[in-house]
Amino acid sequence: MSPERTPSILVVNGPNLNLLGTREPAVYGSATLDDVIRLATETARAHGCTVTAMQSNHEGVIIDAIHAARPGTDAIVINAGALTHTSIAIRDALAAVALPVVEVHISNVHRREEFRHVSYISGVADAVIVGAGIDGYRLAVDHLASRLTAGTPPQGASPGK
Ligand code: DQA
Repeated sequence: MSPERTPSILVVNGPNLNLLGTREPAVYGSATLDDVIRLATETARAHGCTVTAMQSNHEGVIIDAIHAARPGTDAIVINAGALTHTSIAIRDALAAVALPVVEVHISNVHRREEFRHVSYISGVADAVIVGAGIDGYRLAVDHLASRLTAGTPPQGASPGK
């Protein structure tokens, strides 16, 4: 990242997260995806960073967006929704672009069905935030933006990253 460029964070939301606000409110709360993006954008702005947000219900579209992140994007926040538990292809895309990644889940997936306990994303993420509601996005952006502006790697970054 050149010193004069504003650090940029890509926020990726996967299947069904476009329905936030009306979808299973007892599990996911009443905030909408627009609320999530506003929260992420304001959090980034407080650090002098920008946010680009995308949501898709299609695995390939998400993979294309991750590929397109380089150059111009410095870190990724991803809630891949149910694709978290199935998609080796999204994991491989994240590994390929080798940007700092924070994985977010609104609900505490570990308190839910067993199939939600497995994440293909976690192994390529620097940090994982689950069960904090949409505040997880704020925590993720705060973590990445503060490190991007300080020029230090994310807390959980592996030595090879
Ligand atoms: C989710 C958890 C996933 O298991 C689920 O399929 C989602 C949302 C979450 O944010 O809690 O779509 O990623």
